Amino acid sequence: MTSSRIFTHTLFIQFRSKWSVHKVEVTNRIFTMISFLVLLASVLPLIHSLDKNPNPCMPAKYNNAYNVFLKRHIPDGAPHTLDQNAWQAFLRKINMCDRPTQSFFRANERRRVDNVCTKAGGKTLSGNLCISKEKFSFVTVRVDTAEGTCGIRNIRNESKHIILACEDIGDVCQPVHFEGNPKDEVPSNNQLDCGARSGTKPIALNVSMLLFTVVALICISKG
Ligand SMILES: *[C@@H]1O[C@H](CO)[C@@H](O)[C@H](O)[C@H]1NC(C)=O
Ligand SMILES: *[C@@H]1O[C@H](CO)[C@@H](O)[C@H](O)[C@H]1NC(C)=O
Repeated sequence: MTSSRIFTHTLFIQFRSKWSVHKVEVTNRIFTMISFLVLLASVLPLIHSLDKNPNPCMPAKYNNAYNVFLKRHIPDGAPHTLDQNAWQAFLRKINMCDRPTQSFFRANERRRVDNVCTKAGGKTLSGNLCISKEKFSFVTVRVDTAEGTCGIRNIRNESKHIILACEDIGDVCQPVHFEGNPKDEVPSNNQLDCGARSGTKPIALNVSMLLFTVVALICISKG
């Protein structure tokens, strides 16, 4: 009688300890899964934002992006006419026959163009784009890229507000990309000036969130 009682009691204790070990394991797994999901959720937008900055004047991915912009849109020696032969010769010379639509500013407009990426010269449009407060004159050349002949399809002298992607290089917000403005958009008074900060830096917050998650993960997996 007593021995059977002891036996039952032992069984009960064994069962209880197994169950509690099991419970801890399950809880650990759930925690790890949740932390993994949180980690994923905080890393994915970061990876996405590497593609294109969510706001103007955030750190550039490529340090030479401004120089590429200059080479493509404000090169030295661009023709001051709308003559097809002159433009064809020029595009051949600077090796730019492979881009179907290209827009060029006069070299003496460089400062004014740079200024679009500042509070004085531009308004935020969307994403990392700013639109100029003033209109600009520029020449848009359409090129036949198919046969490598550098055939000029047409040349237009445009006068529009210009749309530029603006990024921070060496603590200066600079144009890194020219975006066409086919719908002839104009700056909106409801938008922030280019480079004005509406609040805190989202990337910095996200990085600290990421760090927090990593530390939490390490603690949980050790615990
Ligand atoms: C384009 O038009 C502007 C005025 O609207 C003028 O100042 C400029 O010289 C023109 N450019 C060319 C290449 O004809
Ligand atoms: C993280 O970045 C995204 C954009 O990439 C932003 O919308 C979000 O507000 C940021 N999260 C925090 C906590 O700042």
